[in-house]
Amino acid sequence: MMQKPKVFVTRMIPEEGLTKVIDICDACIWPEEFPPDRASLIEHSRDVAGILCLITDIIDAGVMDAAGPSLKIISNYAVGFDNIDIKAATDRDILVGNTPGVLTGSTADLAFTLLAAAARRIGEGIDYIRAGHWHTFKPRALLGRDIHGATLGIIGMGRIGIEMARRAAGFGMNIIYYDHRMRPERGTDVDARMCTSVDELLETADFITLHVPLTPDTKHLIDVAAFKKMKKTAVLINTSRGPIVESDALYEALHSGDIAYAALDVTDPEPLPADHKLLGLPNCLIVPHIGSATVMTRNRMAVMAAENLIAGVSGRMPDHLVNPEVLPYHHEKS
Ligand code: DGY
Repeated sequence: MMQKPKVFVTRMIPEEGLTKVIDICDACIWPEEFPPDRASLIEHSRDVAGILCLITDIIDAGVMDAAGPSLKIISNYAVGFDNIDIKAATDRDILVGNTPGVLTGSTADLAFTLLAAAARRIGEGIDYIRAGHWHTFKPRALLGRDIHGATLGIIGMGRIGIEMARRAAGFGMNIIYYDHRMRPERGTDVDARMCTSVDELLETADFITLHVPLTPDTKHLIDVAAFKKMKKTAVLINTSRGPIVESDALYEALHSGDIAYAALDVTDPEPLPADHKLLGLPNCLIVPHIGSATVMTRNRMAVMAAENLIAGVSGRMPDHLVNPEVLPYHHEKS
């Protein structure tokens, strides 16, 4: 009987994906609630043909070299892949897979939920009742901002950006966007106007939502200078990656009133310690990186990540490949 390919799965992903992996592979599955530390990651990756990992696992050249020449694929249980050194993988002819598409709608749902919650100060309203302050109807208490008629600025008009625009259109918002690839056609279906610079968007939008991947170019895209360009009434929504926003600058902007509100699904650092200064601000709403956290979406991500892994260890091309430039060489390994 042919030996099953050895793989390391760095966490208990949903059953739908896990059973597929176990069927085909000789799988070591990390059973803990927390991710493996670096030493464990290296130890369990030795001589494997595939690693199925999460955004909490830093997969760099060191891990790849520890795995050795047997490693054919790194399959990320995420659409974002800033936790993986793609160049190091490509240099070693290792395929990298991800999970695009399946989490687009869920992430846009959450981004719009955060927008609405920030606009109408939902978190503060809940705290107000729990603290026993609801004694009467108050004409001036907890006044928020209208969503309808406001301008939404989308930075990054990829799959999730477009879905966010669709939701905003349903709420009667005016939509503008900036996309570094300057794709005017991206706005056509959703009636969104393309800005020719980020500054134009920052100065014009009432709500600003971030939908760009984390790269050296987008790290700290929203810094002190960017906050100064925004309206004092602006609301910032981030469901992409924490380090796209400079945390100290965000705190200062919210604290000093340079902007009105922020609603975040991602933070820097992540996870955010319970005593972090951002959590002390009444005008900052934070949830713990749950953009893709619906039953259906997490199941689909698990299946997609498992299928990418299985394809890679079986010498086939995964359906969702981040580094296609590795393909011409990859067949030599299989
Ligand atoms: C992703 O897929 O990149 C999310 O951040 C986690 O689901």
